[in-house]
This record gives sequence, C-alpha cells and structure tokens, in this order.
Amino acid sequence: MFIAIENVCFSYSNSKENAIDEFSMTIEKGEVISILGRSGSGKSSILRILAGLELPTKGTFTIGDNVLFSSNIFVHPEKRGIGLVFQDYALFPHMTVTENIRFGLFRLSKKEKEKRIKEVLELVELTGFEKRYPYQLSGGQQQRVALARALAPKPNLLLLDEPFSNLDAELQYKIRKDLRDILKKANITSIFVTHDENDAHALADRIVKIDKGKIVKVGRPCDMLGMPIKQEVMQ
Ligand SMILES: Nc1ncnc2c1ncn2[C@@H]1O[C@H](COP(=O)(O)OP(=O)(O)OP(=O)(O)O)[C@@H](O)[C@H]1O
Ligand SMILES: [Mg+2]
Repeated sequence: MFIAIENVCFSYSNSKENAIDEFSMTIEKGEVISILGRSGSGKSSILRILAGLELPTKGTFTIGDNVLFSSNIFVHPEKRGIGLVFQDYALFPHMTVTENIRFGLFRLSKKEKEKRIKEVLELVELTGFEKRYPYQLSGGQQQRVALARALAPKPNLLLLDEPFSNLDAELQYKIRKDLRDILKKANITSIFVTHDENDAHALADRIVKIDKGKIVKVGRPCDMLGMPIKQEVMQ
C-alpha cells in the first residue's frame, strides 16, 4: 500500500453538514483511481483536502512513510509533492510551452531542467511545440501542456479535477485514452475526478463512487454493476 487516506471528514465553515464524511481508501503505487459522483457530491472538496488547500476536521493522509496530515500534522501544499491539474488551472499566457513547464522545476539544475522538459514533452507528444504560446495551441494541446507541467517535477501523486470538461466530445475521448497511456507509462499514481461514467471506465484501474461526501461503492470498472457502460468504452 502506497497511499492511505483514513476517516477524512470536512465541512465548509459556513455549513453544518459534512462535505466529506469518513472518506477512507488505500491506493497502490501507479494506480489510477477515478472518483465518480454527481455535481455537489464532494469530488473537488476531497482533492482540495488532499492537495492541502483545505484543512480537514478529522482524518489522516499518508504517502509512503510521509504523514501529510493527521490530528497534529499539516504539511503545506507546496511541500506535499502532489501535482494538480484543475479545470481552471490555466497556463501562464505570457510564457511559452517550455517556460510554463520550467516554472515548476525550480529545484533542478539548468541542465536537469532542460532534460526533464524534453522528457515530458515527448511523453505528451508535444515535441516541436516548445516555443509556442498557449494562444497558439488547440484546447487539447493546452491541456497536455498543463499535464506536462504537473508531471515534470515527478509528483508522488497527481490530482486531476475534470481537466478535460471544456473540450469537445471527440477531443475529450481522444485525450482520455492518451491520458491513461501517459499515466501508465510514467507510473504516476493518480486520482481523477469526474461526473462522467465513460471517463471513469476508460481511465481508471478502480472507481470510487461518492454521494454526499460518502463513499458508496468501490470497484474495478468491470465490477461496477448497475453503471451503464457505453458502447465506445467496451470496444
Ligand atoms: N467554498 C465553499 N463554501 C461552502 N460550501 C461549499 C464550498 N465549496 C463547495 N461547497 C459545497 O460542498 C459540497 C461539495 O462541493 P464540491 O465542489 O466538492 O462538489 P463536486 O462533486 O466537485 O461538484 P461538481 O461536479 O459540480 O464540481 C457542495 O454541496 C457544495 O455546495
Ligand atoms: Mg468539482
């Protein structure tokens, strides 16, 4: 077991109800988890808690031997080694592709930075786009740069919050297949949040279904009975 999330509870300060209620799960190294739930079920909230952007009222979270939060520990977001790709996590418009990716690599030497930028651009198949600015890229290419930027510092865990929901259906379908290949090739442990069952089935090793902040079901995509699988995913 690589990641352990135990009994996490959280409520927003202006609300009495728990937005997250006793959320517990373990994740193996390299596993791709989809958290699937309807709008308002708590998907973004759990990612924000894991990223360190919200303080849980209860629970523990460990990656390997590192405790990131518990009753008396809280590691700040920038020290967690967690990569984020959020829907509105836009690229810096005044920076080229290379500069956007380099931004997260402040700990490396200049030579190491350039090597890593080359590697991640190959991974997301954007070699040759180094000098372009975001406005010179398609929506899908911009999303792949955002993914490359998050992957570049080799995060222990990558959190993705519906990053492709702005794309048209055809591009979304292509990107979700690419994304699984990229994550598997890089052996990146990741949690992908979606309200789209097709996304979850196409991407995940395991699906965690949540409702009102509670886990209601966990299973492999093929075990999730009662969840319609559309034709395109089964092929
Ligand atoms: N800043 C906030 N203050 C108070 N309540 C909030 C805040 N953000 C979210 N909530 C509430 O917490 C619950 C969970 O919200 P969350 O954003 O986690 O849902 P979600 O599953 O990501 O939804 P969506 O699919 O629409 O993005 C909702 O009832 C929401 O109204
Ligand atoms: Mg959300």
